[in-house]
Amino acid sequence: MTSLKGFQTDSEVKGTRIIKVDPLRPEVKLIRVAANIVKKGGTVAFPTETVYGLGADALNPQAVMKIFDAKERPPDNPIIVHISRKEEVTHLGIDVPERVNQLAEKFWPGPLTVVLKASNTVPRVTTGGLDTVAIRMPRHRVALALIEASEVPIAAPSANLAGKPSPTTAEHVIEDLAGRIDLIIDAGSTDVGVESTVIDMTRNPPVVLRPGGVTSEELRKVLGRIRLHPSILARKEMRITHAPSPGMKYRHYAPKAEVVLVDGKPDAVVKKIQETADEFKRGGKSVGILTFDENKSEYNQAVVKSLGSRSDLKVAARRVFSLLREFDRDGVDVIIAEGAPEKGLGLAVMNRLRKASGYRIVEA
Ligand code: TXA
Ligand code: MG
Repeated sequence: MTSLKGFQTDSEVKGTRIIKVDPLRPEVKLIRVAANIVKKGGTVAFPTETVYGLGADALNPQAVMKIFDAKERPPDNPIIVHISRKEEVTHLGIDVPERVNQLAEKFWPGPLTVVLKASNTVPRVTTGGLDTVAIRMPRHRVALALIEASEVPIAAPSANLAGKPSPTTAEHVIEDLAGRIDLIIDAGSTDVGVESTVIDMTRNPPVVLRPGGVTSEELRKVLGRIRLHPSILARKEMRITHAPSPGMKYRHYAPKAEVVLVDGKPDAVVKKIQETADEFKRGGKSVGILTFDENKSEYNQAVVKSLGSRSDLKVAARRVFSLLREFDRDGVDVIIAEGAPEKGLGLAVMNRLRKASGYRIVEA
């Protein structure tokens, strides 16, 4: 245990330093410690309102390379650049459509990422070789304070090993990245729980590439017509040859356990899940069930976890990644998940569950 002068907030796991920071009033001294690491080209995991990010100086190619290495992320998967002031969009992007200002006005700081044509300021390592850049202004106070103190935009993907569920607590980050990065800022659980919505503003109408914390319904109110990329609703894995969002090609959000998603009318789903669970058990597998409060008492498996009420999908979004990781800690072989209603945040939750299942989807 080491300790910063005057702070009992410092610990270390496998050489990665961990500091506890107040989520609402981030301690200036502690933020400065983290910012100095970013300035020197190091890597810092920090909370945003969506999930924890793994940050480095977005304008320093060597620093950004460290993110790819730590996560084992394929080098063609671009990284979101985080800013603390809306004006920075004009340095990082070019030909910025007026509608981006309307989005920024309405949703920033917050869980929305816009894809724009990239200026020469942004290294191509950060954009995964693309000539576009994804930009977002997060609203978590720790994230904003860190970007501000670092005096550079911060490139940050979710702070998990590539392919694993995104981290919503510092413990999740430690699990995946301790020993691989310089520092973790622990400021408790994140609020939204699923990542930001990614919208491609170089297209007309704009195309949602990833559903997330800002819902499509909210986006339509500002933009009028938008398109959802077909992969968002796809029930089968799409062969993506020319992915507009390279992240789409890769396996995602997968816990160690196998995930099977059962979708359909709520009462038919219960029956189907029970049958599917029995089948796995006959094959000698231990089964966990991911359901909603409304159906929780219907299942007699040992491990049953709830995403909250079907009528409050905010809770489902907040819990989904964390529960997937919990099943792994419980040691189940198979997770059978109930489909969520695809309204509001439910679209993002279902998108994550479909991907976590590797598109093993049973229709009830
Ligand atoms: O909420 C979030 O967005 C979190 C927090 C840390 O801000 N970050 C996050 O980053 O989820 P990541 O790297 O896990 O996901 C970013 C997604 C990927 O699917 C990536 O392919 C896509 O955004 N993306 C990034 N830059 C892009 C670009 N220029 N064009 C199209 N898609 C892009
Ligand atoms: Mg990610």
